Amino acid sequence: MSSLTRFAIDYQHQHVGNSMIVHADCFEWMGRLPENLLHGIVTDPPYGVKEYEFDQLEKRANGNGGIWRIPPSFDGHMRSPLPRFTALNEKERKQLYRFFVEWARVAKHALRPGGHVFIACNSFLCQFVYAALVEGGLEFRGQMIRVVRTLRGGDRPKNAEGEFPDVCSLPRGCYEPWGILRKPMPPKMKVSDCLREYETGGLRRLPEGLPFSDLIESARTSQQEREIANHPSLKPQALLRELVYSVLPLGEGIVADPFMGSGSTIAAAESQGILAIGAEKNKEYYELAKTAIPRLSELIVDSQQINISFR
Ligand SMILES: C[S@@+](CC[C@H](N)C(=O)[O-])C[C@H]1O[C@@H](n2cnc3c(N)ncnc32)[C@H](O)[C@@H]1O
Repeated sequence: MSSLTRFAIDYQHQHVGNSMIVHADCFEWMGRLPENLLHGIVTDPPYGVKEYEFDQLEKRANGNGGIWRIPPSFDGHMRSPLPRFTALNEKERKQLYRFFVEWARVAKHALRPGGHVFIACNSFLCQFVYAALVEGGLEFRGQMIRVVRTLRGGDRPKNAEGEFPDVCSLPRGCYEPWGILRKPMPPKMKVSDCLREYETGGLRRLPEGLPFSDLIESARTSQQEREIANHPSLKPQALLRELVYSVLPLGEGIVADPFMGSGSTIAAAESQGILAIGAEKNKEYYELAKTAIPRLSELIVDSQQINISFR
């Protein structure tokens, strides 16, 4: 039995290498974890709140709109559908805000004091997502900018493209912001004390001793990775390996991805010999993660920013 088994509580779970994945709603699961368990969280949550609901996934599969749109083809290749966050109305924005306040509360419960969260976001929504996370009790520590061509924005005004050929309604997205948050350290505690007591509080320097930097050049997820894990929001191993590495300041402890999708964060942790737990509520993605994690973790990838190999 692995040291992680008891954290599956009574949810369906499976060990994959040293890590464990659970089939659960993360709000419920994290709320039931022992307090102060996790050393760090690296995650990529759903942003439309609704884009991973059954009816929206069905519309995506049928190529039938909903919150999903097909970006223009690029280099002669058809792109996969992306969620349209601009389609959220006021009520849905409020719902999204509440979602992240509640999520921050359960994350704060499960994290150790000083434990960091890296959370993928998008430039359109990040301002109020960060506000919600702070209202839920996390401390804002800045953001990491992943420089990547997202194919979001840059379009001419809808249904008036011919009339306004020189206008774009939103800038073309060339970066993906990731919020950096932390569970507050106990009052008056210094980072050095927090490192001693909880093994948290700071971020780990990169293998060459350079500080973790908040600007990361990152290619889009490779075709090879997409073939292994067919998830609409698959993040690249090169990026995730750097994040799971840096989220543990002493290289010790447990990293969680509560919205693990196909398990790419767990695979990144596996490749680094880091203990990780992933939670996913969609059964199909949970099953996909079982096969994708070992294969993604085996890939040799280079971090483009610092030109070091994380494997
Ligand atoms: C943006 S995707 C993450 C994809 C992941 N980065 C990957 O590379 O595969 C978010 C995932 O969270 C899952 N999800 C949504 N709500 C959840 C919840 N309450 N608990 C656990 N998983 C949830 C969705 O099914 C989806 O797979």
